Amino acid sequence: MGLTIVITGAGGGIGHALSLEYALPHNHLILCDFHQQKLDATAELCRNTAETVETFTFSMENPAEIVKSADQMLEKHKSLDRIIFVNGISQRGKAINTSIAIYRKIMEIIFFGIFLLTKKLLPALLQTQHPKIGVTSSISGRFGFHQRSAYAASKFALHGFFESLRLEHHKDGLSVSIICPGRINTPISLSAITENGQKHGQMDPGQSNGMPAAKCAQKMRKAVEKGKKDVLIGKKELLMVYFKKYLPFIFNKFANKINPR
Ligand SMILES: NC(=O)c1ccc[n+]([C@@H]2O[C@H](COP(=O)([O-])OP(=O)(O)OC[C@H]3O[C@@H](n4cnc5c(N)ncnc54)[C@H](OP(=O)(O)O)[C@@H]3O)[C@@H](O)[C@H]2O)c1
Repeated sequence: MGLTIVITGAGGGIGHALSLEYALPHNHLILCDFHQQKLDATAELCRNTAETVETFTFSMENPAEIVKSADQMLEKHKSLDRIIFVNGISQRGKAINTSIAIYRKIMEIIFFGIFLLTKKLLPALLQTQHPKIGVTSSISGRFGFHQRSAYAASKFALHGFFESLRLEHHKDGLSVSIICPGRINTPISLSAITENGQKHGQMDPGQSNGMPAAKCAQKMRKAVEKGKKDVLIGKKELLMVYFKKYLPFIFNKFANKINPR
């Protein structure tokens, strides 16, 4: 029996790879993203193996578009098996130089957009026997980071929301996996938003030397399917998460020395 799976950010680096991971015979994919062209490219590849693939293009910044797309999904699918949020936008800029408009934009895309889509689709997800949500946070959702104050704040907000949702629907069998990638080789730094609202436009070494997106997606799917609650994916950068938790004096010594790129 196939699964009906909603994936956001499906045209991006990790989202593209995750869509391919879930593009299994019998599965029904509902792929969402901002730019039609990238989304279509993912969908075309997934159609080689998945049972059906639908696409929805909308901005996670736009509540009306989110509601409209969710209603269209629900018209066709009374029950969903997985919702996996992979959409996001990164940041390069110090808080002191960054306007509140940029903070609001990042919070809309990463937090409020995800909150609203969850709220709309949750009743359909709870119709299935083993409902699962996967949400992509970051190691910046575990500790604050240079030039990422809005990004880190939005990822921390996801933890608060989804940890609460997990408790509220424990009795409904809802599993919520909060995935924290470290540095993954995707173009995320190219579209990261800077202090003046422009795109950073550079492939930073953190990304180019990061774990391949396909490997990250493979680990993500396994974690979501096993119902793992909190998941770290990456390389040696994950050490900082353990330092913060178990050896905070080491974390505090090194946190200032990490290259923000
Ligand atoms: N790569 C890393 O090192 C890393 C580390 C930790 C966490 N993450 C997280 O992993 C997730 C996937 O990121 P990625 O690395 O694969 O980067 P990516 O390739 O830039 O993917 C992000 C996706 O989100 C979409 N998106 C951006 N703004 C949107 C909006 N307003 N509405 C709807 N969708 C929007 C992007 O669409 P467009 O490109 O079409 O604008 C893109 O498809 C993100 O949540 C990110 O925060 C990544």
